[in-house]
Amino acid sequence: MSRWLVTGAGGMLGRDMVACLERGGEAALAFTRADLDITDQAAVTATVRSCRPDIVVNCAAWTAVDEAEAHEDEALEVNGHGARLVAAACAASGARLIHISTDYVFAGDACRPYTEHDRCGPRTAYGRTKLAGERAVAELLPGSGYIVRTAWLYGAHGPSFVRTMIGLERAGKVVDVVDDQHGQPTWTMDVAGQVIALARSGAPAGVYHATSAGETTWFGLAREIFGLLGADTARVRPVASSAYPRPAPRPAYSVLGHGTWASAGIEPIPGWRLRLHQGLRAVADA
Ligand SMILES: NC(=O)c1ccc[n+]([C@@H]2O[C@H](COP(=O)([O-])OP(=O)(O)OC[C@H]3O[C@@H](n4cnc5c(N)ncnc54)[C@H](OP(=O)(O)O)[C@@H]3O)[C@@H](O)[C@H]2O)c1
Repeated sequence: MSRWLVTGAGGMLGRDMVACLERGGEAALAFTRADLDITDQAAVTATVRSCRPDIVVNCAAWTAVDEAEAHEDEALEVNGHGARLVAAACAASGARLIHISTDYVFAGDACRPYTEHDRCGPRTAYGRTKLAGERAVAELLPGSGYIVRTAWLYGAHGPSFVRTMIGLERAGKVVDVVDDQHGQPTWTMDVAGQVIALARSGAPAGVYHATSAGETTWFGLAREIFGLLGADTARVRPVASSAYPRPAPRPAYSVLGHGTWASAGIEPIPGWRLRLHQGLRAVADA
């Protein structure tokens, strides 16, 4: 059994990360933002030193994608500088670090899945700050830093597209949903499972993509949700992204490849539709 420390443990992924660890019989030390601010160097250093974790999972992040456009420095403080502090504390203590990142580090204009080795080229402030965090982890922990990129998350705890659609369906609405952005809806419990498998495998440090297999659009996802809830799928109508202008441009194509799991001897996450059948229940019942 390893000793785990989870930052950002009050967030959507952090909460399921801790639950998954506890369910798997692991010793999990959970730190919410109130317990540990990752931008506080003294606190980060002291906490990692006194807890002596084997593995740190950094789920803490500035995740407000649109707000980051006008507040990039503040987002960078958490996503870049904070990640660097966590990595430095792990380097000093000998802990391995699993750092959660995002598809937004890519430009999002490809026409085939992004591999773990593809060139990054973020087009948003959020993506730039998350890339800064990845680079700090790779620089400070070349042999013991794992970057786990995920995307299109939904989970029992926290706002998500899936939760919004459940609410709109229950309210009897007809919804217009964008059909020109492609990605991989991913359940937080599946990301947590991959993180645990990664740590247990002794896999090489590097980049791993923890998203569901397959791909769809937000429209495709919404229609699937309405269908699973027993609603008429004609209540979900496709529209173009131009119908919903946002401060941060959304990637048209954000599908991630899953090649490096094989080198670790770990199965990637199954298809998004299969996993949604289980994950939707967890969100709807929460
Ligand atoms: N949600 C997605 O669709 C998605 C997609 C791709 C990647 N990701 C990545 O997945 C990870 C988890 O995201 P999530 O969806 O679980 O987001 P979340 O629910 O917003 O969780 C992030 C957590 O970090 C905390 N936090 C913020 N600043 C902090 C600081 N300075 N020190 C310590 N904690 C801090 C937040 O606390 P407060 O709420 O109190 O601010 C929140 O509890 C992030 O790395 C994110 O970039 C998410």
